[in-house]
Amino acid sequence: MLVNAAEMLKKARDGKYAVGQFNINNLEWTKAVLSTAEELKSPVILGVSEGAGKYMAGYTTVAAMVKAMDASLGITVPVALHLDHGSYDGCKKCIEAGFTSIMFDGSHFEISENVAKTTELVALAHAAKLSIEAEVGSIGGEEDGVIGEGEVASPEECKKIASLGIDFLAAGIGNIHGIYPPNWKGLNFDALGKIHDATDGIPLVLHGGTGIPSDMIKKAISLGVSKINVNTECQLAFAAATRGYIEAGKDKESKGFDPRKLLAPGTDAIKATVKEKIDLFGSAGKA
Ligand code: 13P
Repeated sequence: MLVNAAEMLKKARDGKYAVGQFNINNLEWTKAVLSTAEELKSPVILGVSEGAGKYMAGYTTVAAMVKAMDASLGITVPVALHLDHGSYDGCKKCIEAGFTSIMFDGSHFEISENVAKTTELVALAHAAKLSIEAEVGSIGGEEDGVIGEGEVASPEECKKIASLGIDFLAAGIGNIHGIYPPNWKGLNFDALGKIHDATDGIPLVLHGGTGIPSDMIKKAISLGVSKINVNTECQLAFAAATRGYIEAGKDKESKGFDPRKLLAPGTDAIKATVKEKIDLFGSAGKA
């Protein structure tokens, strides 16, 4: 069932758990995430970056694939199809393409411009019944060529953006996309607490979910994080399992070169990663 993400995240906030956003890259990825969420009776958010959207032949193709697959697999849990780190134009395109949720990442603009563009996109998204996420304080690391420095967002700016009618807020709290460096200081819970206090209970989003230790994840959820994004960890699991298959020479045995066989271990590895995260985030059985 494709829905926007507003209700599922309010329920997560009230129930003190988080819904996972798992980024998708192709049909196998989508199938792995949807079937695992269904198996665990968990709500789920499929994240699509602008780069992944382009790779999958455009947002209309992605929306058509996800809607058809949701129906063909008989998925009963709530599923949101969400643009991840969208530009102003990307957001507009996804609203037209039939996504059910968008993220406008205006964190690299001056706050006044972030406010102006977010305000406009809130009106467009809500008119089309989509949920909308906005960002304050860029998330560190690199994602699809977008490089962020890993800021800690100002509670005042978070308050300003949260008051624009957005459904959930991504705020930098020292989190980074990709693998955390050995000298990473960890999440800034002091900042998270202040942001939570300043934003009137709006569901908060934690980007860069890959590699954050379980105790930090649990603490973040207790301080108002209701959505956690995971991308790199599924990619690493997929790559390692595929490497294992090829290094074991399985592609050379019988019809092991058949893509349905070649991609199976990687797909199973994505499923295992998604299951582990859903269990950790506490959203199993909450659909
Ligand atoms: P990771 O790739 O670090 O898991 O981050 C994903 C993310 O935040 C997508 O927006």
